Amino acid sequence: MSRSSTVDLVVVGLGYVGLPLARSAAAAGLRVVGLDRNRTVVDGLNAGRSHVDDIMDAEVAAMLGQGFEAVDRPEVIAESAAVVICVPTPLTEYGSPDLGAVHAAVGDIAAHLVPGSRAAIRSNSSGRTAPTGKASTTTSIPPGSTTRARGRAGETVT
Ligand SMILES: NC(=O)c1ccc[n+]([C@@H]2O[C@H](COP(=O)([O-])OP(=O)(O)OC[C@H]3O[C@@H](n4cnc5c(N)ncnc54)[C@H](O)[C@@H]3O)[C@@H](O)[C@H]2O)c1
Repeated sequence: MSRSSTVDLVVVGLGYVGLPLARSAAAAGLRVVGLDRNRTVVDGLNAGRSHVDDIMDAEVAAMLGQGFEAVDRPEVIAESAAVVICVPTPLTEYGSPDLGAVHAAVGDIAAHLVPGSRAAIRSNSSGRTAPTGKASTTTSIPPGSTTRARGRAGETVT
């Protein structure tokens, strides 16, 4: 855990993958913050409303009771010991994943991740490099991201 962490986990992207991950982490006792660029999603979750079919409003209420909070400010990344990216990677007309949202999330992480924190991505998309920090990736951040970031998979930010 980073020296100054007040948050255990930031989940970036609160959709069909990110919200269940946040639910499980909160239920396990972690202090979880969800980061989403969609203000309607953020406000709805903080009001106890689920926008994901698999998760009921009552489950969101339970998450809030466990300390979960949704935000749209990436600065929260600096307060967290770990970050997991769960943003969409829709296929383009050429059949390859559109990584625009991944690159945007990587940019936010690169700007705010602190020494000792970890970043990972949960996605179908593959790649070779990680955004920054000591990355523990289920898959990894695509090539090109390192040009705007500070590190590579497995490296520690100093
Ligand atoms: N949905 C599935 O059944 C499923 C299954 C396996 C893998 N996946 C993979 O999981 C990943 C996430 O997919 P999903 O279905 O959860 O997406 P989703 O569309 O359900 O939700 C994504 C959320 O991310 C938010 N977002 C987009 N860009 C953002 C950014 N830069 N910063 C913060 N929030 C941002 C959106 O507002 C949205 O709320 C994708 O790579 C997808 O391929 C999805």
